[in-house]
Amino acid sequence: MALTSPSPHARAVIFGCLVVLLSFLAGSAQAADAAEWRRRSIYQVLTDRYAYGNGTDEDHAPNCEVELGLYCGGTWRGIMNNLDYIQGMNFDAIWISPVVKQLPQRTGDGEAYTAYWAQNLYELEPHFGTEQDLRDLIAALHSRGMLLMLDVVVNHMGFAGAGDECDYSVLYPFNDTKYYHDYCEITDPTSPLNTQACWLGDWKVSLADLRTEDAEVQDMFGQWISQMVANYSIDGLRIDTSINVEPEFFPNFVDAAGVFATGEVMQGDDSLACQWADAIGSILNYPIYYTLTRAFANSEGSIDDLVSTIDSVKENCPNSTSFGSFSENHDVARFASLTDDLALAKNIITYTMLADGIPIIYQGQEQRQFGSIHPYYNRAPLWQAGVNTSAPLYEHIAILNKFRQHVISGHDNYTEYMAEVIYQDMHSLGLRKGFNGSQVITVLNNNGQDCAYFELEVSGHDYAPETVLTEVLTCTNLTVSESGNLTVPMFAGTPKVLCPLELLANSSICGMHEAEEPLPSATIMTIDATSTVGGHVTTIETVETSPIPPITTHVWSTISGLPTVVPSVMNPEGGFTAITKVITTTQAPTPQATAATTSTADSSPEHSRKALGAGESLKPNSKLVLSAAGFAGAISSPDIAGAAASVTASAFDRWHGHGHGHSGHFHRHFGA
Ligand SMILES: *[C@@H]1O[C@H](CO)[C@@H](O)[C@H](O)[C@H]1NC(C)=O
Ligand SMILES: *[C@@H]1O[C@H](CO)[C@@H](O)[C@H](O)[C@H]1NC(C)=O
Ligand SMILES: *[C@@H]1O[C@H](CO)[C@@H](O)[C@H](O)[C@H]1NC(C)=O
Ligand SMILES: *[C@@H]1O[C@H](CO)[C@@H](O)[C@H](O)[C@H]1NC(C)=O
Ligand SMILES: *[C@@H]1O[C@H](CO)[C@@H](O)[C@H](O)[C@H]1NC(C)=O
Ligand SMILES: *[C@@H]1O[C@H](CO)[C@@H](O)[C@H](O)[C@H]1NC(C)=O
Ligand SMILES: *[C@@H]1O[C@H](CO)[C@@H](O)[C@H](O)[C@H]1NC(C)=O
Ligand SMILES: *[C@@H]1O[C@H](CO)[C@@H](O)[C@H](O)[C@H]1NC(C)=O
Ligand SMILES: *[C@@H]1O[C@H](CO)[C@@H](O)[C@H](O)[C@H]1NC(C)=O
Ligand SMILES: *[C@@H]1O[C@H](CO)[C@@H](O)[C@H](O)[C@H]1NC(C)=O
Repeated sequence: MALTSPSPHARAVIFGCLVVLLSFLAGSAQAADAAEWRRRSIYQVLTDRYAYGNGTDEDHAPNCEVELGLYCGGTWRGIMNNLDYIQGMNFDAIWISPVVKQLPQRTGDGEAYTAYWAQNLYELEPHFGTEQDLRDLIAALHSRGMLLMLDVVVNHMGFAGAGDECDYSVLYPFNDTKYYHDYCEITDPTSPLNTQACWLGDWKVSLADLRTEDAEVQDMFGQWISQMVANYSIDGLRIDTSINVEPEFFPNFVDAAGVFATGEVMQGDDSLACQWADAIGSILNYPIYYTLTRAFANSEGSIDDLVSTIDSVKENCPNSTSFGSFSENHDVARFASLTDDLALAKNIITYTMLADGIPIIYQGQEQRQFGSIHPYYNRAPLWQAGVNTSAPLYEHIAILNKFRQHVISGHDNYTEYMAEVIYQDMHSLGLRKGFNGSQVITVLNNNGQDCAYFELEVSGHDYAPETVLTEVLTCTNLTVSESGNLTVPMFAGTPKVLCPLELLANSSICGMHEAEEPLPSATIMTIDATSTVGGHVTTIETVETSPIPPITTHVWSTISGLPTVVPSVMNPEGGFTAITKVITTTQAPTPQATAATTSTADSSPEHSRKALGAGESLKPNSKLVLSAAGFAGAISSPDIAGAAASVTASAFDRWHGHGHGHSGHFHRHFGA
């Protein structure tokens, strides 16, 4: 279904450090994708409601009629100009609401500001900006080492009117009755047959239900999603209303996308929900969401129910380590509308971020925005709440993200460990996540902020007797007793996050600053590579300027006859993170650049998840992977498609003290 994927023959022309590249590709692309996303944490952005205009001060806040469900003026450029706010909380990915063109009417249900009412999958919704704006946003994210998760809808298209009067000709590419189920209302949410074949929506906006079980519809979706991913360098997908589509639809769709995907399955019954987890690879963890929210909304909440759900998710969903872990989104009541207790808010966020899965925080959660869904005050624009970077939850999230990233950077397998409940009583919960050596103990409670001091005796932590631990939210030390007991001081209802003091070395957490190491004497380093790809001369030149970090890297690549070149940086700490500037010319080897290409991506599943950006940070000890393949369908010569070059930037090893390994066909030299 994918438009192009490198043939074994094409792979054979790969030159350079075969081992590095192939060993990465050999592990199934899907596993690698999930592994990369598991390390990340996601800030969920509702484009229309995050930041308006171009984000400058002189902009005047638009009038916003939240309760009428009308557009409020948020744009992709607004997001782009306000990425510091997100990165200030140490997020390294965002999820944005759908981008494709929506029904244009103002309906009795409002306007299509959430963008789940698509009419044309091949055009963008002009309310959010232009194609260039979207590309610029994604390039800006990638240049910060952040990933983009795109929200997509495969269940339905949107029509302003009653289902039995749907005018299919306004929908594209599904512009014919034959692509849709006959109109019927969903009457039995518990019946898969009914929810999958009938229509969501109402008589004001009907959601024309696609025949996703038909091969033709599947092919059209496969073609569309592989183009979307390639055209815009999308890194991951959130698939809306997945539960209204039969699970069998998804494996091919996700394959065609070639990137990690997580499905929205708004269902508390894990044995049911996990049918979609199996088909898609991941779901948003609604089973946990429901019991988690009830457990922490007040001190009567049931910790027991939460623990049973943790256990049953483990039992029914073979592996929830790459599920989306959340406690708010645009479809559910804000936590602050359930309680205004700040300690409880900190507890639920701590669970979200340190239990299994990919943490997701919904915009505004950090500012304690409140509101529920009738009307959708939970979607009030962020700018109404203000963007205070000293807000308590903003800081809380920033610390937890930083801490989690630090643990992962030293212990790659932390995210794979299935968290275990090691302590439980009426009001408290102790969780352990991480193999021996990297285990983090999180102690939560629902007593609320007025709670007095008490102590908990926690076992099952597997810390050696007399290990010195740090509680990272208060930066206090405590020591495991001689007999191996761990006594955790609890107060003011706040959560506690413990790990060995030693594990924090080289982090800036709790003042554990980085061990100073002399910077390399070279201030400029170039790596030149010249080889032949499919009969074409290729030159790669990397120029770095110190001080390190950050390193600014530019890769000029000239491959004669190739329309596009996609470089990316494969970083041992985070998969593909840094992308460099690429200039493609038809004249090899002199880089007589014609234009900086920032808009193309390799269409092969293995590479389509990364993207381009201008001016990049290259992390130490990284490997440059250059793969040459163009736009979907743009490459005709089979021995060029999929050709890839890999440069092991072994010069970085020197900085890390691992010697001067040479890499294959490449030579390098150090400049002044
Ligand atoms: C932002 O938009 C305003 C109003 O459209 C314009 O005056 C200003 O120049 C823009 N600033 C940037 C940086 O684009
Ligand atoms: C649907 O769109 C295609 C491509 O634009 C067109 O050829 C076809 O006639 C359209 N079908 C209907 C029923 O409008
Ligand atoms: C992707 O880009 C190609 C080339 O510009 C274009 O023809 C195609 O319609 C685009 N696809 C999507 C889904 O935007
Ligand atoms: C931002 O939040 C901090 C902490 O709650 C508070 O002290 C400060 O006054 C707030 N700033 C603004 C501008 O509201
Ligand atoms: C986890 O990774 C660490 C190194 O980061 C390693 O020492 C340990 O053996 C690994 N544990 C498992 C169970 O894979
Ligand atoms: C969960 O899946 C990941 C990725 O496939 C794997 O590394 C990990 O070991 C799995 N964990 C369990 C408990 O199966
Ligand atoms: C982890 O450490 C504990 C305590 O030191 C030990 O009993 C246990 O066997 C270790 N587990 C593994 C898998 O090594
Ligand atoms: C925790 O222990 C470390 C190492 O002994 C020390 O540097 C640090 O100051 C201690 N922190 C506190 C708050 O006592
Ligand atoms: C250690 O904790 C257990 C309960 O987990 C308790 O029974 C025992 O008395 C504690 N030992 C010490 C020395 O505090
Ligand atoms: C901290 O960094 C130094 C120098 O890079 C290294 O030798 C040491 O092993 C690191 N410590 C930890 C705990 O990672």
